[in-house]
Order: sequence, then C-alpha cells, then structure tokens
Amino acid sequence: MSATVNVNGRITDDRDAVVSVFDHGLLYGEGIYETLRTYHGRTFLYQRHMRRLRNSASMINLALPFSDAELTSRIRDTLATADLDGGEAYIRVLVTRGVGDLTYDLRATPVPSVIIIVKRQADPPPEAYERGVGVVIVEVVRNHPGTVNPMIKSNNLLNSALAAQEAIRRGAFEGIMRNYRGDLSECSTANLFIVKDGAALTPPLTSGLLPGITREFIFDIGTEIGVDVREVVLRDDDLFSADEAFLTSTTREAVPIVTVDDRPIGNGRPGPVTHAFLAAFRRHAHADQPCI
Ligand code: PDD
Repeated sequence: MSATVNVNGRITDDRDAVVSVFDHGLLYGEGIYETLRTYHGRTFLYQRHMRRLRNSASMINLALPFSDAELTSRIRDTLATADLDGGEAYIRVLVTRGVGDLTYDLRATPVPSVIIIVKRQADPPPEAYERGVGVVIVEVVRNHPGTVNPMIKSNNLLNSALAAQEAIRRGAFEGIMRNYRGDLSECSTANLFIVKDGAALTPPLTSGLLPGITREFIFDIGTEIGVDVREVVLRDDDLFSADEAFLTSTTREAVPIVTVDDRPIGNGRPGPVTHAFLAAFRRHAHADQPCI
C-alpha cells in the first residue's frame, strides 16, 4: 500500500501518518467519511459528496471544523502532494470525534480529527464490466435504522465488514444485505438496482441504506436516457426474476450483476439497460466540470 495522508493539515506518506490511540474514531468508531475519486485528475459530483458529509456529521452530532472552501483546499493540497504514477486518485475524507479521555461525554472531545487519504484508484477489472459479476445474498442483516442508521456514512463499519467477509468467503464480488424486515437493502459497499420490463428499480431509503451519490446520479441519467428509475421495496424473488441487475458506487461506477447465489439473472449476461446507464455515467464523469 502506498498513500499520501493529511492528518489535521500535516501531509505525510502512509508510514508517517499517525493519530492518537485516544482518538474516539479508534476507541468508539465515532466518525464519518466520504469516498471520492477523480477523472482526469478532477473530482466528480464533489458538491453532492460534501452535502452528504455534512448530513452524516449532523446525524452523529459532530460539528465539522471547516468550511467547504477550507476542506476543498486541504483535499487539493493532499492531491497535489500525492504521486499517483499517472493514475486517478481515490480520496477518502474522514472526520472523527477527536482525541479525548475515555468517556462518551462530548465535552471530552472538543476538536474533531480530519484525515484525508489519497491513493491510486483501483478500478475493477475490465471483465467485471464485460462479463458481469456474481454476488450473494448474505446472512448479515443491514443495520436497523434505529441503531447506526445506514443513512450515516459512518466509520463504524463492523456490520458491513462482516457482510463483505461472508461474500468474500463465498467467492462473490459483493454481498447483498436484507434489512430487518427481510427486504433487500444494499450491498456491503454499493447500492443495488434491478431492471424489470425496461425500468430500473432500487430499494427506497426507507429500506435502510446509504443514499449513494452514484445511485442518486442514476436517477438523473434515467431522465436523460429515457429509462424510468423508481424506488420500490424489493424482495429476493424480485431480484431472481429480474431482467438485469447492477450495483453502483463511486469507485466502481455501475457493475452488471449476472448471478446471485450462483443463479443467473436474466440471460446471465450484462444487459442493454445496465450498459446504457454505465455508458452515460462515464460520459458525464469524463466530461463534467468539477470543483477540484
Ligand atoms: N462505498 N452503500 C454503501 C454501504 C457504501 O459503502 C457505498 C460506497 C455505497 C455507494 O455510495 P456512493 O455511490 O456514494 O459511492 C452504497 C464507498 C465507495 C466506500 O465505502 O469506500
């Protein structure tokens, strides 16, 4: 691993990046984050990521210690220092509760820690897009919204890690989690779409999931390319009887799903609607005018 890291304004390589063991991010998993990536060295959908970061922070009662402009300039400085060997950047912005005594009392941690990790973006292999991927439905249940709400992009990722471990153990590209009602919610690090009768369907936020920035952009693309995109409560059967399925995330764009639990979806090959979304997404990602 090689990365450039900005810890509270101090930029170093990955070996010299340090945080205190008394940071409540470590002690209690108290913190939030965003993952962005660049295209041609520039971020994509930056304002939407900033909006979600602020929303996540407010949902854990964390006052962000920077203006949008200040954070933008920190990200820019970190990007400028990183040696990406001609590749694109993966950017992870973390804000934790900060350093303080061993108590949940917020008065112990008046200063949040702000960490920016920049490393080379690792794309999924081209075959993932050309042939599609196999996923599994995992036993791990997505957090109940009354616990650590999945709307929060939280550093408290043990539930997602356990779901992903199960998927990896079963040789799958991703693991889909159900919610506590048994409805499908999302993957361990991506949102889920199915295509049925020409429409793209995705579970609603009330199914308990992260409001993905790529997911949100798929709605915009649907309007542009004339494909109906709707939020619908989805069950296992909806997925198994879908014409197509795909998953979305910042680092993986839109990846066609061709098997679930080793059962083929549609004809077992990436479908035309998924392809149209991916192509339109990439057109925007490579052309839009970003902030950084
Ligand atoms: N993960 N759902 C979960 C649980 C996620 O962790 C992610 C993103 C998504 C997709 O959101 P977006 O389109 O905004 O990337 C959905 C990022 C990539 C990560 O954890 O690094």
